[in-house]
Amino acid sequence: MQERENFQSRLGFILAAAGSAIGLGNLYQFPFKAGQGGGASFLILYLIFTVVICFPILLSEIAIGRKTQSNPAKAYSNLGFPKWNIVGLMGVICGALIFSFYILVAGWVLKFLVESIQGNLVYGKESFFTLIADPYETMLYASIFMLITAFFVSRGIKEGIEKIAKYVLPGIFIILIILIIYALTLPNAFEGIKFYLIPDFSLLLDMNTIQAALSQSFFSLSLGMGALITYGSYVSKKENILRASIWITLSDVTVAVLAGFLIFPLVFSQGIDPKSGGGLLFITMSEIFSSMGGLSAVILSTMFFLLLSLAALTTTISFLEVSVAYSIEKYDLNRKKAAYIVAAIILIIAIPSAMSHMKSGIFNSGFITYFNTEISVSFMDFIEDIASDFYLPLGGMLIVFFTSRVWKLVNFKEELTIKNKFDEKIVTLALFSLRYLILPVLLLLIILTVLNHFFGINLIN
Ligand code: PFF
Repeated sequence: MQERENFQSRLGFILAAAGSAIGLGNLYQFPFKAGQGGGASFLILYLIFTVVICFPILLSEIAIGRKTQSNPAKAYSNLGFPKWNIVGLMGVICGALIFSFYILVAGWVLKFLVESIQGNLVYGKESFFTLIADPYETMLYASIFMLITAFFVSRGIKEGIEKIAKYVLPGIFIILIILIIYALTLPNAFEGIKFYLIPDFSLLLDMNTIQAALSQSFFSLSLGMGALITYGSYVSKKENILRASIWITLSDVTVAVLAGFLIFPLVFSQGIDPKSGGGLLFITMSEIFSSMGGLSAVILSTMFFLLLSLAALTTTISFLEVSVAYSIEKYDLNRKKAAYIVAAIILIIAIPSAMSHMKSGIFNSGFITYFNTEISVSFMDFIEDIASDFYLPLGGMLIVFFTSRVWKLVNFKEELTIKNKFDEKIVTLALFSLRYLILPVLLLLIILTVLNHFFGINLIN
């Protein structure tokens, strides 16, 4: 049996878990989803869901991990419910699948960083589609990113995961703040802020916006696949996980909200449509930087893609750690071996996704057609649909069902330290949500997502 490590300090744990949460979901997905959801209305919904629905799930995952001190696929049997291990195992599998396309996006970010350093500011504008259509280049950069990820995971909890988070997280905040200050000085920046902060109340009741805000909050906090069960399992019994969870949630939300203060001023200053969608980040940003020109644009662009690379790195580390923790405990492997073997397996699984934007081949947009619909998606989108959009909320729902109905809330509460009135209020809110609110809300989200994604039925508009 391999010896289990713990995080050295509470701060170390908070930074590592916040590092998992803060990723491309905050910096890449959040601004463009907020753009499509009308800016401020999306932001309000996102904040409500984070507090009421997602925070209690985060707390449950960390409590299960800390209580059982084991990976998600064994955690449930440690509490006396071995049948539930299947939920943990599904989480590990889906996590590996999500990781297999996330690492490709991380690789693209790395490629953009390399081009920015070389001063090639038009790269995104001219070559983004060439890059994503080229499986060799995509795999090359994803493999480099994976190697860096595996290096830190192989060094273990204290020396690898905790240490890198301690350096990287403050760096993320500093770079983000510098970029925001600059963005706010640009002409028209204020229009961007207005769009971001003044809500269009009609959109608050728009079911598509509601659904997007909830799944965003879910993905952003790394919920549903057991990443936080895994990190929680390395927290010592002495630590106060309630406070830690509050800090993790706050930092994740802060970075997402700050990303809006960066992106919208930039987008409005260049007169670009804030609803331009997924391409917003890569293409729009490179349009912005290349139209600025000069050395300052090179520096800004480099800082921007460095920010994204660092945020992606602490997240890919957490993805890899979930599968590595599982492999170490299941197959009694040593950590170093496990890290590199699992990394290689994930890269192999990623190959069809890397071929998903090719002009021809079986994995591109014609890969699969969903039931009775005209919706036909690529392999990469298929994996995203089932593992991320469908399974994460389902996994979250099962975890909540487990905590509230199987393990029972009294036992869950015992894991939490309540020090004052504020803590008490938070715990009361979380328990109420776990008992009554989250299950129906997530069930509705899952049904709507399945109908919409797989059957092309939109019940809501
Ligand atoms: N929270 C990460 C992000 O915002 O980029 C993505 C993520 C990581 C989702 C780990 C799920 C997970 F288990």
